[in-house]
Amino acid sequence: MHFPLQHFLLALPLAIAHPCEDTTNIPTVQEAAVQARQLLRSEKIGTLSTVFPSSDARGLGGYPIGMTDYYADCSNNGNPTLLAIKIATSFKNARNGAPISLTLREHSPSSEFYSPAAHHRLSLIGRLSPPIPANSDEGRRVKACFTKAHPDAKWWVPGNPIHKSEWVTFEVERVYWVGGFGDREFIGDIPVELYRNVTLKEDQAVVVNGAIRFNIQQVWGRLRGMLRIE
Ligand SMILES: *[C@@H]1O[C@H](CO)[C@@H](O)[C@H](O)[C@H]1NC(C)=O
Repeated sequence: MHFPLQHFLLALPLAIAHPCEDTTNIPTVQEAAVQARQLLRSEKIGTLSTVFPSSDARGLGGYPIGMTDYYADCSNNGNPTLLAIKIATSFKNARNGAPISLTLREHSPSSEFYSPAAHHRLSLIGRLSPPIPANSDEGRRVKACFTKAHPDAKWWVPGNPIHKSEWVTFEVERVYWVGGFGDREFIGDIPVELYRNVTLKEDQAVVVNGAIRFNIQQVWGRLRGMLRIE
């Protein structure tokens, strides 16, 4: 496999711009809503973004901050469950009235060549619910669901001796979706009702992941064709 590096670099944008001939099957907004719910189901760590309140003692009022956090998809309507540590910045800001967003990205299902830019990205925008009482049926249900996704979180569930924490629901009000490259994926707002109304069946996520990997393989195949690499 011998080819000059500059040929590779010249061909790469072309291969990415025209990776497959068929651009007629861009997902509809309904299909993107299903993909968004599948992404929420298949990931479990995201970035919570909030804005500091104007009263912030360090003068950070109005500045945004994004922090990585755990979530679990424990509802059937796309509202993620969070384990809110009371002293954590995201939850302090949210308690002070800030709206909140949760940003996710799809991670490669394998170590094959792939481009993160071609993969799904989701931003949910909304508000946190009041705390779910830990000793209610719902509190016990979300604890079982959340610690199944995050076994290590058992150390900071409500009632632990170290940190005050509580279960909250991220109540989604708006959904913004970037499916990947715009010539083959839906990019834009997904109406929240469409998103909420999706009913997931377990085996669908695999199909979508397969389709994505297939697209990336097309990019790579085309690149190899242009470069005559075996
Ligand atoms: C969502 O589901 C509700 C209840 O079944 C239905 O009334 C509504 O029309 C649906 N909305 C969309 C956008 O699918």
